[in-house]
Amino acid sequence: MEVHLWRGSAEQQALRDQSRPSGQFAYFDKQLGHPNWEGKSVLDFGGNRGNLLLNPDCAIRHEQYYCMDVLRGAIDEGRERFPKAHWIHYDRYNCSFNPEGIEGLPVPDLGIGFDFILAFSVFTHTTREEMHDLVGQLRSRLAPDGALAFTFIDPHFRSWPETHAGNNLQWRLERFRETNRCLDVDALLARSLGAAWCALVDGSQIFMNSNGVWENEAQACMTYDVFYTAKFLQREFPEAEILPPVNGQMQHCCIIREERTRRCIISSQRASLNSLISINCWAGRRGRAARCSISAGTSARFSSAQATAWTMTITGAST
Ligand SMILES: C[S@@+](CC[C@H](N)C(=O)[O-])C[C@H]1O[C@@H](n2cnc3c(N)ncnc32)[C@H](O)[C@@H]1O
Repeated sequence: MEVHLWRGSAEQQALRDQSRPSGQFAYFDKQLGHPNWEGKSVLDFGGNRGNLLLNPDCAIRHEQYYCMDVLRGAIDEGRERFPKAHWIHYDRYNCSFNPEGIEGLPVPDLGIGFDFILAFSVFTHTTREEMHDLVGQLRSRLAPDGALAFTFIDPHFRSWPETHAGNNLQWRLERFRETNRCLDVDALLARSLGAAWCALVDGSQIFMNSNGVWENEAQACMTYDVFYTAKFLQREFPEAEILPPVNGQMQHCCIIREERTRRCIISSQRASLNSLISINCWAGRRGRAARCSISAGTSARFSSAQATAWTMTITGAST
């Protein structure tokens, strides 16, 4: 969905009615491993007018669906279409979607711990710092065992090798060239080589490893697209699970599961420990591990929702 469908001339705005859901529910359902959605609360962050609910196979109950978006018009439209769902206008600044919004406005606290927070193609339109700020706030709104899943676009990834020879950035630039014949796609692509991430402003200015002109500025543009390589995003969120696109989409998925806090208590009866001792706890699945070191005589909170087994090794000397 393009921002010009929501701003600009009346003709441009009328175009939004032509926008269609493109399998957002099926996408997250697959990326999250087909969870049981029954009775689960879902926050569709940047959910626009609730395209997620338009998917015919959507298993989310309307009463437990919350949509939050900076576009008032989209929220109003969603509320009209799905009155049993919950619609929240979040008047936060976004350089293209809501340039009149309030910079840094905190995510409203709805008093709910969400089982799932989903954000499809939202952090593809915010600065890197905004992404971190919002992801941090959203994580704190998860229920125990909840999961936050959001998408991102890897500029160098080839999503459709059978039908399009280029990478995601090239595909995007070619779309912009349809309305801007002068756009030098090859030159922009050449500049993007090796970039860990990049921002594309108004489909014509590209900034490597930078938010571009929006850094520390509150200005407006018509389109703002940010791309991250999978490797870079994994570095940004080391605890996250990064998954390649599915269902013919071009977007990767980043899943952060609320850590099921486990308490590891060193029993003073089992061992008399002095301060030289440390205990390492490991939990892991699919090759990833969560580690925690504990000093003698203390307890520590650590966890991984993906953990299936825990092992402990005690090192050092005891007295
Ligand atoms: C490309 S659209 C995707 C809409 C929807 N998720 C979908 O898949 O159809 C990006 C959406 O993110 C919203 N958005 C941008 N910045 C936001 C923010 N800081 N908080 C909430 N929503 C935001 C926009 O208003 C827009 O509706």
